[in-house]
Amino acid sequence: MTKIALITGATAGIGEACAHVFAREGYNLILTGRRNDRLEKLAAHLNDKYNVEVATSSFDVRNRQQVIDNLEGLPAKWKKVNVLVNNAGLSQGLDPIQNGNIDDWETMIDTNIKGLLYVSRVVSNWMIDNGYGHIINLGSIAGKEVYLNGNVYCATKHAVDALNKGMRIDLLSHGIRVTAVHPGAVETEFSEVRFKGDKERAKKVYDGFEPLIAQDIAETIWFVASRPAHVNINDLVIMPTAQATAGNIFRS
Ligand SMILES: NC(=O)c1ccc[n+]([C@@H]2O[C@H](COP(=O)([O-])OP(=O)(O)OC[C@H]3O[C@@H](n4cnc5c(N)ncnc54)[C@H](OP(=O)(O)O)[C@@H]3O)[C@@H](O)[C@H]2O)c1
Repeated sequence: MTKIALITGATAGIGEACAHVFAREGYNLILTGRRNDRLEKLAAHLNDKYNVEVATSSFDVRNRQQVIDNLEGLPAKWKKVNVLVNNAGLSQGLDPIQNGNIDDWETMIDTNIKGLLYVSRVVSNWMIDNGYGHIINLGSIAGKEVYLNGNVYCATKHAVDALNKGMRIDLLSHGIRVTAVHPGAVETEFSEVRFKGDKERAKKVYDGFEPLIAQDIAETIWFVASRPAHVNINDLVIMPTAQATAGNIFRS
């Protein structure tokens, strides 16, 4: 039977690259994100190029009811999900804690922690019913270290790190694999979102060194997902060669 991957945040960056890689490998896909036009376009492209089936489901992961209604509303055949890539996430702002924008904090907590939980709550139950599954959580080097002004974003990714460990323990007896992939700097729309559309400032983040690209992470996620069923990669940190720690980038 053709395998199914559900990828959240497939409208850009790492999620979009994962959609390409899993389609290339013959998976049918459920793609989610808020920008439905992008989802529809991507679905048509992947269907055309790889002859795979693609379902799209457009919702905001922060909205618990939308998550439940949209996912549970999918036809039964789509609930045979083999791989869930919990990728939807973002950073907002880069301010010291005393000046932090509280709306930004709420957005990051609601998206990166609560959104990931809402999706996982639904899909882990499908996986338990199916008797198989693999959940791959997008953490970050920000979930392993804390950097200047990274405060709340780092806290949300530390939470993902903890949830990843907790999920693995809770789902152990159901044979469900659980992995976290923690990237360093990847050039996507991430910095543009962090700096609220300020393209100049976003570009400077990647000045003078070669960052990772979304494809690097997607191929890594595919490697993790394609190990034999008895192998689980718990935790994987992947950095650009020019980046040693969150705050140590060698720029020429
Ligand atoms: N880029 C990096 O340097 C880096 C490093 C480490 C970890 N990460 C993590 O990797 C993941 C993907 O980031 P990226 O770099 O690919 O960024 P990106 O290019 O900005 O893509 C983020 C994706 O998340 C989706 N998303 C954001 N908020 C959402 C919401 N409320 N509801 C539904 N979907 C939402 C976006 O879709 P819509 O806007 O269409 O909803 C988009 O598809 C994130 O979890 C991020 O924290 C990134």
